[in-house]
Amino acid sequence: MKILRNVNLQQFNTFGVKAELDKMVLIQSHDDVIRYLNSEDCSETAFIIGSGSNILYVNDKYSDAIKNDIKGLRVIEDSDESVLIEVGAGVIWHEFLEECLKHGHYGLENLALIPGTVGAAPVQNIGAYGIEQEECFDSLTGVLRDTAETLIFSKEKCKFSYRSSIFKTSLKNRFIITSVRYRLKKKYQPILKYKELSEKFAQSKNFSPIELFDYICQVRENKLPDYRYYGNAGSFFKNPIVSIETAEELKVKYTNVPLYVFEDAYKVSAAWLIEKAGLKGTRISDVGVSEKHALILINYGNASGKDIYNLSQRIIDEVENLFGIRLEREVNIIGEI
Ligand code: EPU
Repeated sequence: MKILRNVNLQQFNTFGVKAELDKMVLIQSHDDVIRYLNSEDCSETAFIIGSGSNILYVNDKYSDAIKNDIKGLRVIEDSDESVLIEVGAGVIWHEFLEECLKHGHYGLENLALIPGTVGAAPVQNIGAYGIEQEECFDSLTGVLRDTAETLIFSKEKCKFSYRSSIFKTSLKNRFIITSVRYRLKKKYQPILKYKELSEKFAQSKNFSPIELFDYICQVRENKLPDYRYYGNAGSFFKNPIVSIETAEELKVKYTNVPLYVFEDAYKVSAAWLIEKAGLKGTRISDVGVSEKHALILINYGNASGKDIYNLSQRIIDEVENLFGIRLEREVNIIGEI
């Protein structure tokens, strides 16, 4: 456990907004978490930072934060068909996937280049190109902040849903994930249900997992602006879930509206709604909506977290006025508005 004081949070968020932090506790092992929770440095209100790729600081100053820096990767079980791998919550997600690919462990390829840490992946049940992390998820371990108790969560107990889990609802900020276990296959079975992938690979018979992985990286790089040049946190909003009736009404008015069947309802593309509301490419001073993808809000230089928040609120209001559909933020807002 290490303690850093007077930290500039700009380097700890991919939006690159400025904020000051009095005290950052670096957690480097499961035992560190327990030590921290029983120490005088422990703060009830400290927020948890992974790699800062899905958060927005809306205040200028914060008192306490916990930075999860738990590394390590080990094979727990190894059979002819699959492996069970335990990964430290602070490992970078994409680096974990590269490691899996290198060793011939498959199942998560479609989630290439998603920013963030392994510990953050189950919190919002990350998903892209036709899969969600829950499909290979086995269990996770962590510590309950209120009691310093170590708990193991099976897949069922995590209550995964679209971009959500128990760690985003009833246990929000109350549980520190220290490691996650994934079960990966040794036989490669590509998942090509996403249109862009089926179009590219449906005709080819023998393509390697590396080709698929590289193609997904390429698609993402073309679609999503690089946060090192254009501060952003990926999709800012979730794709809203609408009733069958609302979906039917939308289809009548707009024949090309992108709708996806979701349980007994539909998901409608938030990017499409924002673009249709005329907001794609909008720019006010240093904050804007990407010209490449309408779901991405960008800090073009010196935007504050509040500027970005205000633009997101304007988008929510304008989309609601036009379509009667209320967008929900996917990015976690840190602090009080
Ligand atoms: N579209 C527009 N305007 C745009 C961009 C897209 O109308 O500016 C339309 C497209 O034509 C398409 C539809 O919106 O019909 C969907 O677009 P896309 O395939 O880019 O996917 P998305 O629904 O916007 C979701 C995830 C992404 C994930 C991609 C690929 C959410 C909120 N976002 O985006 O996740 O990578 O699918 O699977 O579910 C993330 O969560 O940070 C993220 C990037």
